[in-house]
Amino acid sequence: FDVVDLIRTKRDKGTLSTPEIDWLIDAYTRGFVGDEQMAALAMAILLNGMSRDEIRDLTLAMIASGERMDFSSLGKPTVDKHSTGGVGDKITLPLMPLVASFGVAVPQLSGRGLGHTGGTLDKLESIPGWRASLSNEEMLAQLDSVGGVICAAGSGLAPADKKLYALRDITGTVEAIPLIASSIMSKKIAEGTDSLVLDVKFGSGAFMQDIALSRELAKTMVDLGNDAGVRTTALLTNMNVPLGLAIGNANEVRESVEVLAGGGPADVVELTLALASEMLRLAGQPDADVAAALADGRAMDSWNAVIRAQGGDPTAPLPVARETTTVYAPRAGVLLRQEALPFGIAAWRLGAGRARAQDAVQHAAGIDLHAKPGDTVTEGQALFTLSADEPSRFERALSSLEGAWEIGDAGAYEGFGPLVAE
Ligand code: URA
Repeated sequence: FDVVDLIRTKRDKGTLSTPEIDWLIDAYTRGFVGDEQMAALAMAILLNGMSRDEIRDLTLAMIASGERMDFSSLGKPTVDKHSTGGVGDKITLPLMPLVASFGVAVPQLSGRGLGHTGGTLDKLESIPGWRASLSNEEMLAQLDSVGGVICAAGSGLAPADKKLYALRDITGTVEAIPLIASSIMSKKIAEGTDSLVLDVKFGSGAFMQDIALSRELAKTMVDLGNDAGVRTTALLTNMNVPLGLAIGNANEVRESVEVLAGGGPADVVELTLALASEMLRLAGQPDADVAAALADGRAMDSWNAVIRAQGGDPTAPLPVARETTTVYAPRAGVLLRQEALPFGIAAWRLGAGRARAQDAVQHAAGIDLHAKPGDTVTEGQALFTLSADEPSRFERALSSLEGAWEIGDAGAYEGFGPLVAE
């Protein structure tokens, strides 16, 4: 095949065949198709879309570029969750031990943050001693002994996607449903989980702001999973407002531990329980009482075991930032708005996220919210606190929060929609 012909086909709204897609992904992985050619193709796909067959072929070709894992030796069902990413989205932390406490295996291959959405591995690395990199053998052994694992996806899993995702990131081609769906699902199918629950975000802090596009992304991924033999379902959830009260890394671990102790913010608890019920339903336990496992300490026991198994000390103090600054309510009223995206960008500018893949994150940096939309506030009440190791970061963080929140009269509050849309 000639890659220029394939680019022209997608440019002119044509369809690529299975052998063409197989050849393309193999040639790109091995360096025979250049980044500039793949970037042109990615842009043509973003603009003109792909058929369902093309998306399936692309996903299968990316899986075939690397290894496939196999958990069948465990002798228990495996179930995973994937979120398309949000602000303050620490749900994996309480969810994984909660589900594992029901005797199913939860292999959470996770990533690091890039841009304003945080990464689960970055959050957990604020726990002293905790290790993100495990060999496949260590991962299997831990799933067998404690039932859950959160670790970095090894470089052998869908290498074509790693290369393509890095290219999309710098060419404005991330936001294409065929490319997002094949990217996420190639890794999840190659991972070898029996079942998968997708948490697809909609709203201002999500990839897809529009709920109709989020629904299309969810449906595309659900079809890809089920066609490949992975029992897959999706929840559509609200990312107009940050999840919970903590945005950052160490503070999100702290909040997750509160949830595991039976407390924590209502929205984090609600989403954790909804996803846990769905995961256990797919794993054959439709009647699991997930709230009871949070209340009676089973989920916390499971968390302590998983953190220890990866070298972490769950009792060690978490890092605290050197500097803080708090923003106070200029008037009394109701908090009308608190927009996820600018709060995510502000936390990122404080050092909680990274601009380039090789940057380090500052684990104690972030934002703690003291009120949520709909809350009544008094004049002078603390609204949120920014934390950073370097006070020079506050100015840029605060500038991204201008206009991101609003206090008004009680009657003006319009809500921000249900947390779980379906
Ligand atoms: N996460 C991924 O892994 N890939 C995408 O394309 C988007 C989000």
